[in-house]
Amino acid sequence: MARSLWVRRGRARLRAVALIGIDGSGKTTQAHRLAEALTAAGQPATYHRNAGGRRWLGRLAHRLGRPDAQRLVGRDGLLAVESVLRWLAIALALLTCLVTGRTAVMDRYAACQYASIRAHGGQRWERLARVGYRVFPAPQVTFLLTVDPAEAYRRIERRGTDHESMRWLTAAATAYRALPEYGSFIVVDANGTPEEVSRRIRAHLTGWLPGDPPVPPGGARPPSGGAGRDGPVPAQARP
Ligand SMILES: Nc1ncnc2c1ncn2[C@@H]1O[C@H](COP(=O)(O)OP(=O)(O)OP(=O)(O)O)[C@@H](O)[C@H]1O
Ligand SMILES: [Mg+2]
Repeated sequence: MARSLWVRRGRARLRAVALIGIDGSGKTTQAHRLAEALTAAGQPATYHRNAGGRRWLGRLAHRLGRPDAQRLVGRDGLLAVESVLRWLAIALALLTCLVTGRTAVMDRYAACQYASIRAHGGQRWERLARVGYRVFPAPQVTFLLTVDPAEAYRRIERRGTDHESMRWLTAAATAYRALPEYGSFIVVDANGTPEEVSRRIRAHLTGWLPGDPPVPPGGARPPSGGAGRDGPVPAQARP
């Protein structure tokens, strides 16, 4: 029955979807909403927070009398810790979804690590990170949430759990755009209300979320050479 549904929709089962983007772009908010929407549509999905431990290390640094995590372990040390912790988190998330058969909704994925390395000026570590992260399959769909860095800054300040500089947010936005994977991302304008952004995301998953309205004009933009506008994209080409 389930199989015939998928065949009728002409879609493969959705195994994993990732949300990436700068801090404050709304990844966590949207990943939770998407997991709920998929589950409600009969496609059991689990949210996975693929954190790199930066916030936790920042709190530890404060406790130890340092202004931030970087002053505690150094820039390269922080990138190494973040790369390892995020790798472990993603591995655990993928294993979990393999065992449970549930769809993984990934709050951050490998591309976030490459962007972080670039935006922190640690380019020489990117090759090494890519060797480690290459073992992970590309999610069927990767949404890049794009937001004005000034809006991301305001959201983070309102959230009140951490602080990010405008300089960092702008550098991160540039890093995402410069990634070689950029053409395979579904770029979603994340500047609207959470509801508007959710609609834009879901409009690209119509095969798995039937009944949702089609993508509004200008609502979401697949990058040139990327996936089509209507419905889910094929698996990203990556070894
Ligand atoms: N579309 C939106 N409009 C206004 N506020 C939003 C929107 N989406 C999320 N927020 C709020 O902005 C803050 C940042 O959102 P969220 O934590 O989802 O971003 P994030 O991309 O996961 O950030 P980080 O990378 O720092 O974890 C939260 O307080 C959230 O409630
Ligand atoms: Mg988050």
